[in-house]
Amino acid sequence: MRRLAKRPEGASLAGGALAARWKVMMMRSLLVVVFLLGLAACASPPDLAKAPAASPPVLGAFRGDPPATTAEAWAGRRSPLLRKAFLEAIYGQRPDLGQPTVESRETLAVEDVGDATVEQWTVRLGKAEPARRFHVILALPKATGRPAPLIILELFCGNRAAVPGHPESVVENRDILPAPCRSTTLDPVAKIFFGKRINGPDIAKVTARGYAVAMFYPGEIVPDDPDLAPAALAALQPGVPAERRGGALAVWSVMFSDAYDVLTADPRLDAARTAIWGHSRHGKAALLAAAFDPRFAAVIAHQSGRGGASLTHSGAGETVKQITDAYGFWFGAAYARQASQPATDLDQHQLIALIAPRPLLLGNAMGDGWSDPAGAFRAAQGADPAYRLLGSSGFNATDMDDFRPGDGIVWWSRGGGHGVTTEDWDAFLRFLDKAMPAR
Ligand code: GCU
Repeated sequence: MRRLAKRPEGASLAGGALAARWKVMMMRSLLVVVFLLGLAACASPPDLAKAPAASPPVLGAFRGDPPATTAEAWAGRRSPLLRKAFLEAIYGQRPDLGQPTVESRETLAVEDVGDATVEQWTVRLGKAEPARRFHVILALPKATGRPAPLIILELFCGNRAAVPGHPESVVENRDILPAPCRSTTLDPVAKIFFGKRINGPDIAKVTARGYAVAMFYPGEIVPDDPDLAPAALAALQPGVPAERRGGALAVWSVMFSDAYDVLTADPRLDAARTAIWGHSRHGKAALLAAAFDPRFAAVIAHQSGRGGASLTHSGAGETVKQITDAYGFWFGAAYARQASQPATDLDQHQLIALIAPRPLLLGNAMGDGWSDPAGAFRAAQGADPAYRLLGSSGFNATDMDDFRPGDGIVWWSRGGGHGVTTEDWDAFLRFLDKAMPAR
């Protein structure tokens, strides 16, 4: 989703002006979505044959490191080198946000969630003042006497929009939400254009399948906003020179791990069967999180695009210049330079390979050319040798319709455009059932 005009923090507008502003905002949002939908409808499926193969070969020599031919060489030598390279060239450092602790837990009265119990947790990061907090909505399936497998999700539109009925009891700071998310009036429109599940999964359905779902809005720690993010990023990384500083994606990726820490301390949840999920920008964060944190058992990166699963050097979709011009604060300072000086020995298949051998689903939509599905397909093929080296079945899809939910790297794609649909979640659950089977 594109960002629309930002309301200055704390600004309060008089009734008439506010109404006029909402009208303009709604009109603009409508125009953007109509435009995007038009693009998606007109687009023909991306041509795989035109997408270049991932380069360099994932197990080949890399910056003085000889080819990685054993699992030991991959884990001991190659992985640390690649991790360092990704932080330096793309994301900036991943800061320690401080020890996460749970300050409070409450059960919320929520309708339309089937048998699920819904809780709200307040999580504090470290002891810094002013306190850094984010809120987690945890939906638990009916107790079975065994810990439930867990899916941790980052949300685009804040926690309240993810809970049926948008209850006021769900803590929310509207001033840091993306503009189209600040009014629930736009909700039905967003759902028509970006899919019914754009603001969160069907809690009743996912929990009925046995999964617990934990959702949070990472903008509570680093706002998803080019005006507000730089100060938050600097404050989180005191003394770190701007050149090395982590961008928002680095912080959001660390938040997956912080959420994991507090959630899996709860005996109702299964630490060994915990997956992470992200759509688009949060798909990028999910890939980065899993590349650095081995505790996630499975990963879903849906339409993660540039800086996510798609090859940077694929020549299709969003360019490095476009993404760093609009969303430079998501990345480390070095990434923008790749627009003119591409790092030819580093590409996203190597990031995917760092997740091996854990099951990974790459979600796509054929009309979502901006996120470059063909580039993601080639990246999955490029990562395959690392998955196989570590004993996984790897990536076996032969074309973009080839959904094999039990494989190491799973390709999921549907028609239509950018967004999250019920059909997508059906595929995600089929994947998770295979990736994290009951023990
Ligand atoms: C923008 C951005 C993409 C991103 C998307 C999203 O379109 O250019 O890189 O993935 O927003 O997060 O929805």
